Amino acid sequence: MTHLLIDSLIAPRLAIWLALFLFIVPNPQAQQPVSAADQSRPQSKPLLAEQVYNNIELMKGKPATAVLPMMLAMRDLLGVDCNYCHTPHSWASDEKKTKLETRMMFHLTEFINNDLFAGKERVNCWTCHRGQPKAPAYPAPASPPPERRVAEMMMHLTDEQQGLPAMQVFKNIQSMKDVPAGQFPVIMSYFSRSLGVKCNYCHVNPFSSDEKPQKRMARKMLAMVSGVAKNFYGGGDTPIQCYNCHQGHPKPPEGSGP
Ligand code: HEC
Ligand code: HEC
Ligand code: HEC
Ligand code: HEC
Repeated sequence: MTHLLIDSLIAPRLAIWLALFLFIVPNPQAQQPVSAADQSRPQSKPLLAEQVYNNIELMKGKPATAVLPMMLAMRDLLGVDCNYCHTPHSWASDEKKTKLETRMMFHLTEFINNDLFAGKERVNCWTCHRGQPKAPAYPAPASPPPERRVAEMMMHLTDEQQGLPAMQVFKNIQSMKDVPAGQFPVIMSYFSRSLGVKCNYCHVNPFSSDEKPQKRMARKMLAMVSGVAKNFYGGGDTPIQCYNCHQGHPKPPEGSGP
């Protein structure tokens, strides 16, 4: 399931490290260039990760030579040492929570890419982590930010409306039907600040119009976030929100490094 993601993360490192690992990993006949003459002979299969190592789930079916480049890639993506996830010298152990969390994160990332980008590897560990073990969190403003005050002025909801489901107060609610209307100023302000944009990045006049593709994209993003909550966080609150990927930009960066 996570094959594409793993391939793209190790590709830049594989070239550099492969030569070295040919010595470390016993008898890896992987990755030898095949000449026309060789092709007539039966090929011996490269050793697979699970044949060389003891506790392989994510990398099942990958050549054993890909495991260490993958580990080096994760070190850079999260800005950590091997022992952040491993008890030194017992690499196979699942004792550290961070190792288990890493496996979960691979499945989560793959889920997102399947849901939004037809399986293309658009989102990876770097998108959120940016070289840090803790993905940067939304800098919650101390007092109501200007975006929120603007939204409150524009919506001017009565006390009664504040508590009603959004679908009963606004004209065109599809994603957040049961969210109390009174939360919309905070939510819309959060959208704006997470992407570093103004309201008109997603809206034309009137707000109920779906003319802008960005508004329609935002709905897809909302559906993805609730899919993540449902599949990975037991349907409750998820720490994966707009800000985690966007970090103040309309489009998160492509690629897996600075
Ligand atoms: C962010 C967490 C993380 C970091 C950092 C990390 N690893 Fe891993 N490592 C894992 C996970 C997860 C697996 C299991 C892979 C799987 O399920 O296929 C693993 C598996 C391994 C294995 C295979 C063990 C076995 O017998 O099953 C080795 C060897 C290994 N790592 C070495 C390293 C080295 C060396 C480094 C530092 C360069 C490193 N790792 C950095 C998470 C990490
Ligand atoms: C969509 C954003 C996102 C992506 C993509 C993502 N992560 Fe995370 N990751 C987070 C957030 C947010 C947390 C903090 C979760 C929490 O507080 O419970 C986290 C936590 C972690 C932790 C635990 C950190 C700790 O000290 O508790 C590890 C390890 C980790 N991620 C590894 C990865 C790896 C490896 C990848 C790529 C396969 C990845 N993450 C992809 C957002 C992301
Ligand atoms: C990133 C895109 C995005 C940004 C930025 C944004 N919105 Fe929205 N807004 C949406 C989406 C998506 C909906 C529809 C929600 C749904 O279907 O549940 C919506 C719905 C609304 C509605 C309800 C319209 C109706 O009658 O159906 C109002 C009012 C609104 N936004 C105001 C604002 C204001 C004010 C701002 C700026 C502070 C803002 N929005 C910023 C995406 C955005
Ligand atoms: C898992 C990472 C991730 C999360 C979480 C996420 N986004 Fe995105 N979003 C992306 C990526 C990647 C793109 C850029 C797609 C592309 O390359 O065109 C994007 C694009 C968008 C766009 C279109 C921007 C444009 O100019 O075309 C909007 C609007 C948007 N996201 C809104 C949101 C909102 C609102 C949320 C929270 C409900 C959210 N996103 C959560 C990854 C994410």
